Amino acid sequence: MADAVHTGEGHQRRIFSGIQPSGGLTLGNYLGALKRFVELQEDGAAETIYCVVDLHAITVWQDPAALTRATREMTAGFIAAGIDPARSILFNQSQVAAHAELGWIFSCVARIGWLNRMTQFKDKAGKNREAASVGLYAYPTLMAADILVYHATHVPVGEDQKQHLELTRDIAIKFNNDTGTEFFPVVEPVIEGAATRVMSLRDGTKKMSKSDPSDMSRINLTDDADTIAQKIRKARTDPDPLPEALAGLDRRPEARNLVNIYAALAGSTPEAVVAEFAGQNFAAFKPRLADLAVSVLAPISTEMGRLVQEPGEIDRILARGAERAAALANPILDRTKDILGMIRAPKP
Ligand code: AMP
Ligand code: TRP
Repeated sequence: MADAVHTGEGHQRRIFSGIQPSGGLTLGNYLGALKRFVELQEDGAAETIYCVVDLHAITVWQDPAALTRATREMTAGFIAAGIDPARSILFNQSQVAAHAELGWIFSCVARIGWLNRMTQFKDKAGKNREAASVGLYAYPTLMAADILVYHATHVPVGEDQKQHLELTRDIAIKFNNDTGTEFFPVVEPVIEGAATRVMSLRDGTKKMSKSDPSDMSRINLTDDADTIAQKIRKARTDPDPLPEALAGLDRRPEARNLVNIYAALAGSTPEAVVAEFAGQNFAAFKPRLADLAVSVLAPISTEMGRLVQEPGEIDRILARGAERAAALANPILDRTKDILGMIRAPKP
């Protein structure tokens, strides 16, 4: 979509993002998303709204008890990583009905042809597309609603969500054109940092994912220090030493991935990491990476473990966040209905 497109009616900067509570958090979620969420909160330049997207999780079957547990664990992960529920709005999606309502409206704006192009649906549905849920197919229209029901303008995500954000832009533009308004902002993806696509530790061409059958392929935020060190020691690499310059990693996806992870964890750049370790082999690099990963992740994992012991407190935080979220979303949903000609109760 053209960059020249205006971003709507002079919308204020507002940040929204979400993570699914289907399984635990991985190092990919942390570096690609969570760590960035915290930085944007700390930056203080805009309101930050973060959502545990349970309605998205159920596009594939979730055991109800496991969904409850994963939602609390994800919330604990957000807080342990540095999201402050007083400064950011933190809640689970299903508690704010406006998401699903606007999601329906957007499923009437998006075209089947647009959804047919979504690669995440193709990946997740696999060969047996007929058996996938309708929700899995319509998922990007709900994602657009999550963002636009707050008139959010900036969305921090990993690389894999880029296509969904382009669809979100297309939906906003079509709604605005169809209704002759500039009601919805045209959102900007925020895909930044050294690790916007963390790869599997077993295969440098595959994304690190919570759904990979091999636990050795990923680092979980709940892994203990020994497990993290072992997974890094066993991570696939090649026999060559680290090169003098980054270009030397062009055809070495596994090596490049470990360098990116190091850079992101250290708050540095891949260039600086390569410069520091040039000429050393992976037998020397891996223990340094393991130490760094443990020093960053162990405090988060300890704090998560402590927080999940108090599910009542987590539920209260989510309920309070949902109240604040609804207060922002409901007036925007009401205005959407007005624009579409839907009757609402007259103001008393
Ligand atoms: P999901 O776990 O699919 O709900 O993803 C939540 C967030 O984490 C999204 O912003 C993703 O783009 C991001 N993410 C997931 N896996 C990775 C990965 N391997 N590398 C970087 N970002 C990721
Ligand atoms: N689709 C995202 C994922 O799978 C999760 C998500 C749902 C999201 N709604 C969102 C991300 C809104 C950013 C903004 O990772």
